[in-house]
Amino acid sequence: MDATSLAGLRRTYEGRPLLETDVAADPITQFTRWFEEALEAGLPEPNAMVVATASAGGRPSARTVLLKGYDEHGFVFFTNYESRKGRDLAENARASLLFPWHPIRRQVRVEGSVARLAHEESAAYFNSRPYGSRIAAWASRQSAVVRSREELDARYAELAARWPEEPPVPDFWGGFRVVPTEVEFWQGQLERMHDRLRYRRVHPGWVLERLAP
Ligand SMILES: Cc1cc2nc3c(=O)[nH]c(=O)nc-3n(C[C@H](O)[C@H](O)[C@H](O)COP(=O)(O)O)c2cc1C
Repeated sequence: MDATSLAGLRRTYEGRPLLETDVAADPITQFTRWFEEALEAGLPEPNAMVVATASAGGRPSARTVLLKGYDEHGFVFFTNYESRKGRDLAENARASLLFPWHPIRRQVRVEGSVARLAHEESAAYFNSRPYGSRIAAWASRQSAVVRSREELDARYAELAARWPEEPPVPDFWGGFRVVPTEVEFWQGQLERMHDRLRYRRVHPGWVLERLAP
């Protein structure tokens, strides 16, 4: 499909104006407002976000993960530390997050440094997950090539038989926290004159800047 045939998908973005005088002094408070509005709007997966990483050599990759928590310290997701993203973050501890909230004509973009959660924090979350998810975390060498579906299922069955009740916490699995240095709020507007407000970390606070759409 080329750009001309996609033109029919064009839409007029008519959101509420996003003004410097209306937003919070810090991006986490502002994120909370928008996240709550995303929940109220009934978006299908409001906490799904795209995480972009890059290898030490600068090769980018992106994938969707679920936001499992956030506060003034950053945005948290859980994954396999030996996956492609885990390996990228081990050699280049920076990431960009994107919340694509299309139905409400909004986008939030976060950029920052990344740190592993303390083992106890990851363990607490791991142990709160359903049994099947915990076994699956053990059974899947995330991002490795597997011979077949059967091989995966056999591995799952073997591990479920080994730990019929409480599987231990894998040392290759846990959380990452993205500590933001920039957070941008995008609100679609008429005639492509969208609003973009970006918070930039300048210790001890944040600088708010408007970006051209
Ligand atoms: C809606 C959605 C939510 C997902 N949530 C997670 C998640 O929380 N953690 C995770 O490791 N993978 C999650 N995935 C799978 C990732 O997109 C990806 O396939 C996987 O993490 C391997 O990525 P990598 O090879 O780049 O490391 C999710 C996928 C989708 C579509």
